[in-house]
Amino acid sequence: MEIGKDLLKAKKILEKGGLVGIPTETVYGLAANGFCDTAVVRIFEAKKRPHFNPLILHTDSLEKIGTFVTEVPPLARFLAQKFWPGPLTLILKPTAAVPALVTAGLPTVAVRIPNHPLTLSLLSMLDFPLAAPSANSSGYISPTKPTHLLSGLHTPPSYVLDGGTCQVGLESTIVLPQKEKIIILRQGGLPIEKFENLGIEIDFTSHSASPPQAPGMLSRHYSPHTPIFLGNIADLLKQQAGKKVGILSFKTDYSAAAAATKILSRQGDLSEAARQLFAALRALDGAGTDVILAEPVPNKALGIAINDRLRRAAVPKQ
Ligand code: TXA
Ligand code: MG
Repeated sequence: MEIGKDLLKAKKILEKGGLVGIPTETVYGLAANGFCDTAVVRIFEAKKRPHFNPLILHTDSLEKIGTFVTEVPPLARFLAQKFWPGPLTLILKPTAAVPALVTAGLPTVAVRIPNHPLTLSLLSMLDFPLAAPSANSSGYISPTKPTHLLSGLHTPPSYVLDGGTCQVGLESTIVLPQKEKIIILRQGGLPIEKFENLGIEIDFTSHSASPPQAPGMLSRHYSPHTPIFLGNIADLLKQQAGKKVGILSFKTDYSAAAAATKILSRQGDLSEAARQLFAALRALDGAGTDVILAEPVPNKALGIAINDRLRRAAVPKQ
């Protein structure tokens, strides 16, 4: 796997139906030509992703989106204008140009304009959107640095565009716009108060619904290979006495009590914590401990999505 900034090289690989790792402000994506079945199928293979889990199409303008969705209704357009490019995914209605593999056969398609200069340049050079899930193997921790693509996938792409560390660090917020309200399908990098501040009415779907409403919202996800427990660290330390532990804390230093520790934000800043979360989980997963103990962060702003990821990470294997 090569890591570099060669946009032309990335373009050529994508035009031939290959895969490229792309930076976004949320997490790194594993991208392919979103109009090409044989290219998209490679994403599912590289991630070992179940085919019932649909993909997000990424592009760089509302005009281009108009070529593969039947309409952008008024509320969706309003949100697009407010928050794109940015960590928001909108659920819209696809035209026949969108392969069923991308939508998993659903009557809807997920669309987003990501906010990363390198990827926006790449997208502006392409006449097709990029289908791109997070570039981790299905169920593992999402990647927020180019090197994460080396270890988290079954088959890494031959090329990754080096866009540095992802600035948000959590996946996009997924929204299903209705006539007069929105339904949040996945909490993410755009905190819900951004919608509340605009006076928009919000509904939520239960993430753990079975079958899930957003098919990717399976309960166990973002999970390290090392067993991870979520709760009060002092209590967890008692429960796991005798084990070699790694600790993921919000702002407290537990280095005296553990073999490995990661602090999400010493200042207690939720944006910094979001940015650090996945890299910290990966580092602790590689630290060779028996278990990882993690504590929830304050449940507000980006903390809601951080806690959601931690809860899913800690769901035991079936
Ligand atoms: O920030 C992000 O959204 C990143 C970057 C790379 O853009 N992408 C990402 O993709 O997180 P992925 O595949 O890991 O998660 C996409 C989620 C899945 O849970 C999937 O089920 C849901 O979007 N999704 C896709 N199409 C959908 C649809 N038509 N209706 C409901 N949910 C959908
Ligand atoms: Mg993902």
